[in-house]
Amino acid sequence: MINLSKINKSIEPYINFSEYYEQAQKKNQKNIEAISISSFNKSKQEIESRLVNLKYVINNEWIFFSNYQSQKSKSFESHSQIAALFYWNSINVQIRIKGNIFKTNKEFSDKHFKNRLAGKNALAISSNQSEKINSFSDVKTNYKIALENNDKLFQRPDYWGGYSFIPYYFEFWEGHDLRLNQRKVFEIIDNKWIDYIIQP
Ligand SMILES: Cc1cc2nc3c(=O)[nH]c(=O)nc-3n(C[C@H](O)[C@H](O)[C@H](O)COP(=O)(O)O)c2cc1C
Repeated sequence: MINLSKINKSIEPYINFSEYYEQAQKKNQKNIEAISISSFNKSKQEIESRLVNLKYVINNEWIFFSNYQSQKSKSFESHSQIAALFYWNSINVQIRIKGNIFKTNKEFSDKHFKNRLAGKNALAISSNQSEKINSFSDVKTNYKIALENNDKLFQRPDYWGGYSFIPYYFEFWEGHDLRLNQRKVFEIIDNKWIDYIIQP
């Protein structure tokens, strides 16, 4: 689930997003919060994608949580523009987003960390995400140590927290029979959201 209770509904594409979200939810869409985030690692000259779980949209910030030393984090630091993608098969809708990404404010990340399951926090604390490790049993040992360290389980480590991106482009794609698909774009031009449709 994505918490949309504080989404900014004065932004037109956010209204479209909320409507499709509601439709997909009604159809019991699995992994509705799964969003692909593609980023450019400038030093490696490579583009990488991965799924994350989008947790909140607060005003115009689209927020997920991750490790701040992971591969994705290195990409975001070298190039702050990202491309994001949802596909909800229950309603056959694809949503493409482009935006700029930055770390969410610390207070918000602290609050989120305090409200998570201890077991999840132990993993966030113990994993050097995306770094090599000798064996999976080392992963489990590190995890167990973090889990036993009870007094630290709800203190957010500074290497973990939220990422917020602010979209400047959306394309809503609705799949229909015989490829008569409908595509609607919203983008910011001269500080204003404009919309138009494009061919299938
Ligand atoms: C459905 C799904 C949801 C995921 N959600 C997250 C997430 O919210 N945060 C996260 O750091 N990784 C999440 N992952 C794992 C990432 O896809 C990825 O493996 C990890 O973040 C490391 O990526 P990186 O090496 O590009 O930094 C998720 C994976 C899947 C399949």
